[in-house]
Amino acid sequence: MSPEPIDRPDLGGPFPEHIAVIMDGNGRWARERGMLRIQGHTAGVDSVRQITTACARMGVGSLTLYAFSAENWARPPREVKYLMRLLRVFMRQERKTLMKNGVRLRCIGRLDDLPPASLKALRATEELTAGNDGMVLRLALSYGSRSEIADGIQRMAQDAKDGTLDPASIDEESLRAYLYDPETPDPDLVIRTADELRLSNFLLWQASYAEIYVTDVCWPDFREPQLLDALRAYAGRRRKYGALLGEDQDDTSTSDRDTA
Ligand code: FPP
Repeated sequence: MSPEPIDRPDLGGPFPEHIAVIMDGNGRWARERGMLRIQGHTAGVDSVRQITTACARMGVGSLTLYAFSAENWARPPREVKYLMRLLRVFMRQERKTLMKNGVRLRCIGRLDDLPPASLKALRATEELTAGNDGMVLRLALSYGSRSEIADGIQRMAQDAKDGTLDPASIDEESLRAYLYDPETPDPDLVIRTADELRLSNFLLWQASYAEIYVTDVCWPDFREPQLLDALRAYAGRRRKYGALLGEDQDDTSTSDRDTA
């Protein structure tokens, strides 16, 4: 199936290649409406669907969604069970749309912790979409950045012990190769919904230079117009990566001259 044509909005500035989202506020959204928390998660799935399709259509390279953190296992068993079921159902229902939009699914995290039926549905969708060459949709599941780094270091230490890795050769890029999905590019933009100002153990290595955008909108209300607000904010950011830009650089050379 050939993917839909790319339709990227011109927002007057750079467009992010990799967007990562901390989807927060499902519970609050439901409580504010006198509903059960799990109904907030169900409404959150509609946002996942809409944002995935919108990003694919706009030609985003990668979209990473923080769908279930390593810490989320501490929630009441009923809620965990419901989330795992939602995941399974979503995988089955969305395969057709993912194929239509040319989206490739990848999952990151301690996936062996997931219930077998959910893992099976995820793996089947990963396999089905593996040949797609459009956007990569990464779901972070049972994911924690600290455990990602610790797991990677453990494998590195083993390889060093086995003699297949020279400890002296270890650098930032070789460590990246030991993360859950070495192909994960650094996110350009991390969006967090529901007004929380934390990274919550999400992509700590990869997001070192990401631009962060926080909105007070809860995830079930985060749809295409809210995505466009985030993209507009990103288009107006000046990314310096610790260096200086344009006229600021000229400023420094002038003062060097003045003091020389
Ligand atoms: C945070 O809201 C959201 C989650 C822990 C789970 C996110 C899950 C979904 C959007 C649905 C399932 C996902 C897929 C990919 C099918 P919260 O419960 O922490 O909200 P609160 O802070 O208001 O309580």
